[in-house]
Amino acid sequence: MTPAGYREARAASPPLPEPRGALSGAVGDALSGGPDRLPGPADADRADPYRGDLQLALHMLYELHYQGFAEVAEGAEWDPEVIRARNALEEPFLAALRAGVPGGGLDEAMEGVLREPPPGEDPGVSAYLAREGELWQVREYAALRSVYHLKEADPHAWAIPRLHGRAKAAMVAVEFDEFGAGRAEDVHARLFADLMDGLGLDHAYGRYVDAAPAEALATVNLMSLLGLHRSLRGALAGHFAAVETASSPGSRLLAAAMRRVGAGASAERFYDEHVEADAVHEQVVRHDVVGPLAEADPRLAADAAFGVEATELLEDRLGAVLLRAWREGRSALRRPLAAADGGGPALGR
Ligand SMILES: [Fe+2]
Ligand SMILES: [Fe+2]
Repeated sequence: MTPAGYREARAASPPLPEPRGALSGAVGDALSGGPDRLPGPADADRADPYRGDLQLALHMLYELHYQGFAEVAEGAEWDPEVIRARNALEEPFLAALRAGVPGGGLDEAMEGVLREPPPGEDPGVSAYLAREGELWQVREYAALRSVYHLKEADPHAWAIPRLHGRAKAAMVAVEFDEFGAGRAEDVHARLFADLMDGLGLDHAYGRYVDAAPAEALATVNLMSLLGLHRSLRGALAGHFAAVETASSPGSRLLAAAMRRVGAGASAERFYDEHVEADAVHEQVVRHDVVGPLAEADPRLAADAAFGVEATELLEDRLGAVLLRAWREGRSALRRPLAAADGGGPALGR
């Protein structure tokens, strides 16, 4: 039962985020009815695909397909000029990902996801938070992950009409769990909103986009990019397999981190739930979604490998930024959580 007074995270569309440069500024202007100078291929080519400006511009264009923005007409979603700008910005991002991954086979790529870092190598963000994370770092982590988790599993739903047979049945079975198996209070996005409440964060959709570093936006933009293009369905399946495979052990560590900092029962529940659920989801996605795709067409196997590797690449980039900041005792967010969010980096020290 949804408690009386619970504010649905997606009851309203968020305001447009603050621009981070010329591309995101132009997109925000055009979407809100200002000067229509949407970026084209030449603008996109000049930009660093991993920087916040391009990533935020893409984020804004993708959000038209999810929750939209308060100031933007819903019809903008399929405006041909908007789609043209999105295509222009996707190109350098996709090219950078293709150039940045090792380009190995699918089995090799999946082994990379399962690999435990050897002693002496950086253990990764989840292990760091489980071992020595402080409350302020856990709150930052939840704030930046909320850009995805408040729409958890939505980008993967776009794969469904592009699949058939065993792959489709399996994909839908996993998505059914992600969407609460018929219970609104068990939708994983809702469990994450509850986690945010437990951490004293604001669970309104889009609330922490301005705070999220470019590396965090890129991990979410990857899912939207792969989800929206039929030509990238193999990569989306690979992405899903990588996420579900990393999630069970990662969630075990993050549940421990929640207990460590005393985040409370609702925060623990989100990760406890994922330890169990994703151990199953991993098997289903790998064997019953990616498996049949790869068997049907070797090109889809290569695409799935790309999806796995691109996921790893962007998660590694994000992890490096977070750990560098936190080890130096600084906020990893573009703006530290304000007092209104329950405290900044000083909280919990
Ligand atoms: Fe989930
Ligand atoms: Fe899952």
